[in-house]
Amino acid sequence: MTEQVRSLADEVEAAVSAAMAETLPAELAALDPLVRRSDHADFQSNVALSLAKRLGEKPRDVAERLRERLAGVEWITSVKVSGPGFLNLHLADTALVERLAARLDDPRLGVPRERSGDVAVVDYSAPNVAKEMHVGHLRSTLIGDSLVRVLDFLGTDVVRQNHIGDWGTQFGMLIQYLTEHPETRWRTAELDAAGGPAGEGAAEAGDAVSALDSLYREARKVFDADPAFKERAQRRVVALQGGDEETVAAWREIVTESEAAFQRIYARLGVLLTLDDVAGESFYNTRLQAVVDELREKGIVEESDGAWCVFYDDIRSPEDKPVPMIVQKADGGFGYAATDLAAVRYRTTELKANRLLYVVDARQAQHFDMLFRTARRAGWLTDGIEAAHVRNGTINGPDGRPFKTRAGGTVRLADLLDDAEGRAREVVAEKNPELTGEELDAIARGAGIAAVKYAELSTSRAKDYVFDVTRMVSFSGQTGVYLQYTHTRIASILRRAGEQASAARFDTSLPLERAERELALAVDEFGAVLNSVAETLEPHRLAGWLYTLAKAYTDFYENCPVLRSDVPEEIRTNRLALCRLTGDTLARGLSLLGIAAPDRM
Ligand code: ARG
Repeated sequence: MTEQVRSLADEVEAAVSAAMAETLPAELAALDPLVRRSDHADFQSNVALSLAKRLGEKPRDVAERLRERLAGVEWITSVKVSGPGFLNLHLADTALVERLAARLDDPRLGVPRERSGDVAVVDYSAPNVAKEMHVGHLRSTLIGDSLVRVLDFLGTDVVRQNHIGDWGTQFGMLIQYLTEHPETRWRTAELDAAGGPAGEGAAEAGDAVSALDSLYREARKVFDADPAFKERAQRRVVALQGGDEETVAAWREIVTESEAAFQRIYARLGVLLTLDDVAGESFYNTRLQAVVDELREKGIVEESDGAWCVFYDDIRSPEDKPVPMIVQKADGGFGYAATDLAAVRYRTTELKANRLLYVVDARQAQHFDMLFRTARRAGWLTDGIEAAHVRNGTINGPDGRPFKTRAGGTVRLADLLDDAEGRAREVVAEKNPELTGEELDAIARGAGIAAVKYAELSTSRAKDYVFDVTRMVSFSGQTGVYLQYTHTRIASILRRAGEQASAARFDTSLPLERAERELALAVDEFGAVLNSVAETLEPHRLAGWLYTLAKAYTDFYENCPVLRSDVPEEIRTNRLALCRLTGDTLARGLSLLGIAAPDRM
């Protein structure tokens, strides 16, 4: 079985580099050969243009010298100089088919583990305890899940970290309120015994969180209006931080119910996060003082109005005042910043990570800028360690503004998923009227989640996007449903071909038709696309490429019959092998986005 297959693009790059080495001074020969796929050829190199500038020659003359060398490479069938000095290269069909043959039946499809040796901590999802998971948490959860899968496939040792918001003064307030209102029912078991939250059947963890969410708002009102309650709530914070048994038990119960609700959503989304991945803010509690002490010893924090702060020359408010990162408040309390500093230190020194990735809303950009700079000053981040804020934009409603319910509240993630599954059910049932009952339910559920995930992951993460369920569940256009559907078409051909399909191998001597070549060239790009995702931390590159692959398959499907009786046997065999390799590549690519590839829908 093959393990690593060099892509055609890599081979072409190597050939152009070799031609450069033979015709140019050494320092120029080492430059990037600038090879790209092209509409005018299999590959194109623009390197002659940039070389010409440095050499003071005409680009076409430089291109011509390279052309002569490349024309001697046996698997390159034609090299032409075009335009101002582009090199257009066509490859031999055998070169393409050999590559496909090497990828077929390899579980990794020939993709090397190019990122082994890295240890990456991926910090993502991170919802807040006692609050509903809302649409804002969807982006981080799905982008993070895909990055985890891609990095892991490329050999990186990945540590998932769910930095949930489970600590802070708000819990003092909530616990105090619950203690003073012992009659309130909020636990799943209590709601369940009462016949569900609205007397409409079994309760689940999500209902407990809904209840806590409203109780929290109630508590806030009392806190703001009643100074005596405010004082009791503040004492409760001290009790919690001081480890008072009863208070800690109440806190733990709230955390446990919330975590169960998060896990239900994760299971529904099919993301990898488990309870073992939770290292929330409270996890760092015992490490905070040491962090501040070290920053103090190193002279990185200064006292300002009683608080310990870090300042930066170039981070200033609109009034041109320096904006501090507050590490310890004047009352001795620690906040979000201290927790994150402790997390950086833990992740680099104890988890030994060399990549720290934070998939978090773009609105926290300044926090991460300050965090990384402070950690560098403190020596917790060193030159060999990358720390990146993998920022995401917001999800907007149809009006182009941050998504809200009609009543103006935040949209619950669970409701949004219900909506997507319902719409998916309608389109699947319409496309495939024979499906009924449980099979239809299962397929609709899968398609609805796939639709939401693909819509998320095909959007450039830094951009905002509009949540439009109708568009997401469409069978045509760039949707998850279209990709899944393409996979089912492949599966259907393979099923009908039976054993001939599983036994099919490529015959490298057969010529390829245009649509077959296009598909072959697309399939061969898989590894390069994954590497670009690992580098840029942008899953939409994979999502977009899968769409290109599916379109190339659709074009092949329409132009190259496979099972039709007049197709010669050896050509049918080659096409079946190509179907299988494409199907496996599509399925693997989708799985790296966390999307299933069903055989039927
Ligand atoms: N809980 C935070 C929020 O909902 C996100 C935490 C992100 N991770 C981190 N290490 N700061 O906004």
